[in-house]
Amino acid sequence: MPNGFPSDAELGSLMLPRQLLAPAPGWSRQTDVCVIGSGIAGLCTALRAAEAGFKVIVVTKENINDGSTRWAQGGIAAVLDLDDSPQAHAADTLAAGGELCDAAAVDVLVREGPLRLRELMARGASFDRYPDGRLMLTREGGHRAHRIVHAGGDATGAEVQRALLVAVAHEPGIEVIEHALVLDALHGASGGIVGVTLHVLGEGSSDGVGAVLARATVLATGGMGQTFGVTTNPVVSTGDGVALALRAGAAITDLEFVQFHPTALYLGPGSTGQQPLVSEAMRGEGAHLVDAAGQRFMLGVHELAELAPRDVVAKTSVAVMLEQGTDHVYLDARHLGAAVLRKRFPTIVASCTAAGLDPAQQPIPVAPAAHYASGGVRTDLRGRSSVPGLYACGEVACTGVHGANRLASNSLLEGLVFAERIAADLARDLPAQADPAFGDHLDARVVSSTTRDEVGAAMSAGAGVLRSTRTLRQVGQRLRELGERRCADPRPASWEASNVHTVASLVVSAAALRSETRGCHWRDDFPHSSPEWRGHLVSRLVARDGNGNGDVVHTEFREVLA
Ligand code: SIN
Repeated sequence: MPNGFPSDAELGSLMLPRQLLAPAPGWSRQTDVCVIGSGIAGLCTALRAAEAGFKVIVVTKENINDGSTRWAQGGIAAVLDLDDSPQAHAADTLAAGGELCDAAAVDVLVREGPLRLRELMARGASFDRYPDGRLMLTREGGHRAHRIVHAGGDATGAEVQRALLVAVAHEPGIEVIEHALVLDALHGASGGIVGVTLHVLGEGSSDGVGAVLARATVLATGGMGQTFGVTTNPVVSTGDGVALALRAGAAITDLEFVQFHPTALYLGPGSTGQQPLVSEAMRGEGAHLVDAAGQRFMLGVHELAELAPRDVVAKTSVAVMLEQGTDHVYLDARHLGAAVLRKRFPTIVASCTAAGLDPAQQPIPVAPAAHYASGGVRTDLRGRSSVPGLYACGEVACTGVHGANRLASNSLLEGLVFAERIAADLARDLPAQADPAFGDHLDARVVSSTTRDEVGAAMSAGAGVLRSTRTLRQVGQRLRELGERRCADPRPASWEASNVHTVASLVVSAAALRSETRGCHWRDDFPHSSPEWRGHLVSRLVARDGNGNGDVVHTEFREVLA
């Protein structure tokens, strides 16, 4: 236990506004497996479960194509080159993860990844190749080998999503419900999860609040970047899965490790929401980071210079910005030439053009933005959360592969590998459907949707790349104030705002507790890693509406036993 770690009594004091307790459903549907989310993790789980003979319902918040996957630029990391090895991929993953990766989970990722990638290609995903047919492999931050496949230059996620959507359209065992915000998990009499309630904005018999009853429920809701004011994540990434799992009683871990991508396109002061990504692959192909004076600043900081792990690059960029009194640095890709830039990075060139920039003629202004949640719903190697019947896959999950900082392009791979593992577990051991207990319904008192921008602004200001006791106290105080702004008539926007508020509160609480710097958690007042902090913060909801003020979350420290 780290020195000075607060006592249990103090830890019990994270009170969240009373959480949404879903209204009684007006309609219900029955299926074998309910998958929530339609990115690589959700669609792969759905496809594999349907191929195993199960009826699957995929629930997605907006259109089926609107998650994070289609925005992924860089690629998928997997060992495909004879000069590379799973051990080398594991070593890079562990080095990036700041001594907090689960070695067994990393081993699963690097060994099973290549086969899963080949299966994805067999489903129709087409990756960039040389004229002789060999796959093109690139590098990104933290990788010491060329092992990242990409598609359409920098449009990897779009190609993966396209191929999976075609496969889903041809799979009769899968039904998709779009425009459906999942509200809460439904417990059965024995405590396990037996489905979810959801609010569908649509026409006909499935409109309004309903329920999908399922023998197993898989969260694949993606990330929580929208908890911050400046992010690379699409508008749907509001941490819904983590918030739902917390309310369902599941263990949530490592939330302080929010990865900030060092090179989001800087669109000017005050620009908020989803910012265009400038892929790390551009640095993999030779672009340099330079400061306001045009000097390369990563040389001498790390042996891999611009290709150091992402946390190192983001921290160094912020240090340069603070020193020079600027709010951005530059990525200089001019020497790659206009033709290479257009062919290899068409998406980035299009974003630059839209912002009035020509990357062949001028350095690209860039700044860090919230990008990836290394933590999430704690799962085992079969994708099971700590609550029976509830699985998590992809960014919403914390399988242990990322530790304190995810290695670039390991995330789509994680979705592929663990979707397969979840489907295999379902095929082995899918329980019979149990009846839900609707009895614990209380009035929903949720946070007003008007809090969203203020939560994001507070998080970016106080819980961003650089954090301190002072900034975390400020954002914590602001979140408590915003939590008082309730909404009497809950609609999806306010339920979503409540999820954002819940997840932001968990991030800030964990970041304030961890008084050290490790991976992508950087504390100005504790600038070094401390051996006593080599462990995980694990949070759980312990009481609904404690003392009539809100829900009580308990956080404990679990040491890594090496
Ligand atoms: C990038 O292309 O830089 C992002 C890739 C990733 O987040 O893994």
